[in-house]
Amino acid sequence: MFQVQIVFVTQSLICHLTVGGNMTAKKWVIGNWKLQGSLASNRGLIECIRARLPVLDERVGMAVSPVFPYLPQVADLIKGSGIDLGAQNLSEQVKGAYTGEVAGTMLKDVGVKFVIVGHSERRAYQGEDDELIARKVRSALDAGLVPVLCVGETRDEREAGETWAILLRQLNAVFDLIDSSKDDIVLAYEPRWAIGTGVSATPEMIADVHGFLRTYLVARHVEFGARTPILYGGSMNGANAATIAIIPDVDGGLIGSAALKADEFVSIYDALRAAA
Ligand code: 13P
Repeated sequence: MFQVQIVFVTQSLICHLTVGGNMTAKKWVIGNWKLQGSLASNRGLIECIRARLPVLDERVGMAVSPVFPYLPQVADLIKGSGIDLGAQNLSEQVKGAYTGEVAGTMLKDVGVKFVIVGHSERRAYQGEDDELIARKVRSALDAGLVPVLCVGETRDEREAGETWAILLRQLNAVFDLIDSSKDDIVLAYEPRWAIGTGVSATPEMIADVHGFLRTYLVARHVEFGARTPILYGGSMNGANAATIAIIPDVDGGLIGSAALKADEFVSIYDALRAAA
């Protein structure tokens, strides 16, 4: 039994909570393959990961998220490995005349467990706003999927001292549609300025933001806050994973380019396992 005193300070809200219990979030390493892959390269990558990691640790899950056309192929390749399947997007719609969209129930049908929602690339390039992202999170949950909700600030926002306000805005929009007593999500902190740059956020920045996110989750619902994994994403790789994995409230990584190299991806997994 432990006791954690949490002080939650926002611009207008101050609350004190005392959390009891020994629940901790499961750790996850989730690959986001983005717009990359082919039948041949997917096969090679999964075969290498499986060869290097024949058995997963039950305390640390692994998932890979290919583009839509390859989901059935990758579902087949990961059978029996313990690796889970993720998708990179879904429609907020369930069915109907929505050309080009893919519903959560369809993802579920082909074996998907996780779906990434609110990624900064979709916010920036597809113009997805907080309200749409909230509806997508609700659709994912209704379809029986686990949304991996991405939040994070741009460099300008950080430099203007707006990081907390941006995170709160992104979180509040979504959490009004979540029943934290029963819904399961994964939260990912992805500072937009660290994605694809080769330079991750510093351990101090990550610790600050993850502590803030944990406090936010616990303030919503104590048990939900304790069981929800908070992943870091943004240039996490085999070289920095051990440092990031031991930061308090880091429950894993959402990995972009390093997820396309079996050695790197497995090193990140090993770092999380060592920290578990
Ligand atoms: P990189 O790991 O390539 O920086 O990408 C992170 C990311 O966007 C994962 O969703």
